[in-house]
Amino acid sequence: MAVTEGHGGGSPVLVIGGTGKTGRRVAARLAARGRTAVAASRSGERHFDWRDRTTWELAVAGVSAAYLVDAQSEDAAALMADFARLAARSGVGRLVLLSARAWEQSRDDAAFAVERAVRDSGAAWTILRPTWFAQNFGEESFLRDAVAAGRVELPTGQGLEPFIDAEDIAECAAAALADDGHEGEVYALSGPRLMTFGDGVGEIAAAVGREIAYVPVSKPQYVTHLLGRGFDEGYAEFAAELLGAVADDGGAYLSDGVERLLGRPPRDFAEYVARTLPSGVWQRPAD
Ligand SMILES: NC(=O)c1ccc[n+]([C@@H]2O[C@H](COP(=O)([O-])OP(=O)(O)OC[C@H]3O[C@@H](n4cnc5c(N)ncnc54)[C@H](OP(=O)(O)O)[C@@H]3O)[C@@H](O)[C@H]2O)c1
Repeated sequence: MAVTEGHGGGSPVLVIGGTGKTGRRVAARLAARGRTAVAASRSGERHFDWRDRTTWELAVAGVSAAYLVDAQSEDAAALMADFARLAARSGVGRLVLLSARAWEQSRDDAAFAVERAVRDSGAAWTILRPTWFAQNFGEESFLRDAVAAGRVELPTGQGLEPFIDAEDIAECAAAALADDGHEGEVYALSGPRLMTFGDGVGEIAAAVGREIAYVPVSKPQYVTHLLGRGFDEGYAEFAAELLGAVADDGGAYLSDGVERLLGRPPRDFAEYVARTLPSGVWQRPAD
């Protein structure tokens, strides 16, 4: 973890999941606004582990606001309920939760249990519900190796999804953490364009200048594919369900959260590709 020093006033902001795709960007955006961001995770300098409650109290000490990425486990809501209450009792007055817009398609109210845990904490809260991230295609993410290897198998069919740039999520989170007026608001955050996962693969292929196959598979085929790559059955079935919902066009609508929060349209996927290409993340393993 890094403590990212800003030069302005205000007490530090805790960034849980501060080494992840959104968290590290949230910390950077806060620093750019002159705030001190304390990025916490298992590999962080301020050690924080959802599975080790002895790390929780130290994490919240002396901070005024917190960005929350949940434990991504079956007991995530119970852990969040305990942690958010502890944070509120310790003087953390503002909580900004990274949720997911995909839960809006779920008929199961339990999907919102993590959100409820934050709403009920006693602190002021803001909830961000992003769509699938553009960054899933690169960074340390689940599609990166497949894109680099030239073959992406997914159960997402020809379903449409407006990928959101994690830079936009981070800018929204930093605004909700540092500015007034976002308490009690739920912001659904999408990119500006409906596209298929195959479109995303195709745009990256055009940018890198070689063929990358997008291969739609069924949910059971995807489960088998993930088991073959060493994932456990519970995760494989969860991932197949979530991605399979895209094939049914469950996410085929735009949301105005970025515009409402930042007063400007969200970044397009093309901008993400152009920005990411020079990093070499999509080079073939042998390149
Ligand atoms: N990816 C998407 O497209 C997407 C879309 C909508 C919503 N979301 C939501 O975004 C959240 C983050 O997902 P992501 O895939 O993008 O992951 P990520 O934020 O890139 O990585 C997970 C972060 O959590 C930390 N972490 C993992 N296990 C931890 C533990 N036991 N204790 C403390 N910290 C832990 C990791 O750091 P260490 O390894 O250092 O602990 C890392 O900083 C999830 O709640 C997901 O539902 C994701």
